[in-house]
Amino acid sequence: MKRETILIIDRNVRENNVFCEIVPPTISIRDINTKEIKGIILSGGPASVYTKNAPTCDNRIFSLGIPMLGICYGMQLMAKASGGKVGKARSREYGRATLTVTNHKLLFKDVPKNSICWMSHGDKVKRIPKGFTRIGSSRNTSIAAFANFDERLFGVQFHPEVAHTQYGNRIIKNFVKNICDTKSDWSMRSFVKETIDEIRHTVGNGKVILGLSGGVDSSVTAVLINKAIGRRLVCIFVDNGLLRKSEARIVREVFQKHFRVNLRVIDAEEEFLHGLKGIKDPERKRKIIGGQFIKIFEREAKKIGAVKFLAQGTLYPDLIESRSAFGGPSATIKTHHNVGGLPKVMHLELIEPLKYLFKDEVRKVGRELNMPGEILGRHPFPGPGLAVRIIGDVTKARCDILREVDDIFISILRKRRLYGEVWQAFAVLLPIKSVGVMGDERTYGNVVALRAVTSIDGMTADWARIPCEVLGEISNRIINEVDGVNRVVYDISSKPPSTIEWE
Ligand code: XMP
Repeated sequence: MKRETILIIDRNVRENNVFCEIVPPTISIRDINTKEIKGIILSGGPASVYTKNAPTCDNRIFSLGIPMLGICYGMQLMAKASGGKVGKARSREYGRATLTVTNHKLLFKDVPKNSICWMSHGDKVKRIPKGFTRIGSSRNTSIAAFANFDERLFGVQFHPEVAHTQYGNRIIKNFVKNICDTKSDWSMRSFVKETIDEIRHTVGNGKVILGLSGGVDSSVTAVLINKAIGRRLVCIFVDNGLLRKSEARIVREVFQKHFRVNLRVIDAEEEFLHGLKGIKDPERKRKIIGGQFIKIFEREAKKIGAVKFLAQGTLYPDLIESRSAFGGPSATIKTHHNVGGLPKVMHLELIEPLKYLFKDEVRKVGRELNMPGEILGRHPFPGPGLAVRIIGDVTKARCDILREVDDIFISILRKRRLYGEVWQAFAVLLPIKSVGVMGDERTYGNVVALRAVTSIDGMTADWARIPCEVLGEISNRIINEVDGVNRVVYDISSKPPSTIEWE
């Protein structure tokens, strides 16, 4: 993309309305030396610059005239390449330290003389390279920051990108805005406009298909592409009978009625439930469901005819995870869980308009496109749907029970304004029965578990501290209103060692 860019490690830059991209140090000089690259941030890392196979970059990068900020290992790399000396620190420094600024020009403009910073290093710069001056120190690290003002090269031993560094954002802002001289005009509005132009250019008169799950990523992808090429985008939504209550209705209303998306809703409940009959093993359930999605998707794609492109809601973290400091930019593409393997089989070109965005930016794009909060604020929902929340046999009757339970749980969380406070909340139907008493009658009914977790990214999670009185209200309503359920339990496991889903 031809826009002002900072090549970087981290997303703090984006908060300054400047695009940034994470690249491996093996990037070629030719790719860096373009007029769009306004600055480079060399990231930290656990290696020592003197160890064999330590990540390094082409040393010519330091004389391109592009402003650079080296952080931790990046500072040491800069020092070594510029003729300074790096060595083992007498004592390693981890955690909180006091940064004392000795020169407030440019990088440390408006940063007080003393402030808290976050350190994490075993090596440090021991001799400043020629042309550089010290601009900051800490008790254990006399050269905690240096600068070559003429060449606009800066290095900091501490981590300005972490929240614990008091003036970290200010420092990054100083670098991005004042030193790199960016215009800060990258916003979700400009992203939408540029991306629509780009999609039009790529697709020409062609057709695009997209597996719409109703989740945030595929939904925003659908609306964005729809804005670009209208009904030449065909969205396929498979109602597999494993969806939450009202899910298919909401998708129809939002996409078909409101956004006039070319949407095909495929009713495949019987097909899926038939395939799952008698299957208890979670991995087999997932495989069977994945296989059925592919079959249905292929079948529908054939009906549409000459389709050239497959759209996916891949996000930036998926790309970052696949880039290593040692290898090249090996951007392995995440295949949508519902249509995994399709590109290979069907020879479709991929379109992934969100692949440079983080999740919260995707939500902002959605708001820019006037998408309803109901879609943008939704909790994640696994591709195999309720099948991995019904432990044991998956039948229509059990799906119906779970749908009702889940709907009561979620609607009370919404009413109590707790829905947006948790990462994910859902119910699980257990394969056991328990004894209860209703009126004077003995009951022998199903047990459901409620799961609500807080999390930043789904990789780790803690159980949500839903107030007891709210849990009581949920339990009462479920047992009173859902036939066949006589016991509700609350899951208090964190991830790890548990996972968020039960299967
Ligand atoms: P776990 O259970 O692994 O879940 O802790 C982490 C997050 O991933 C979601 N999840 C899935 N999402 N397809 C998806 O698109 C899947 O097969 C799948 N399995 C789990 C889960 O809901 C949680 O947000």
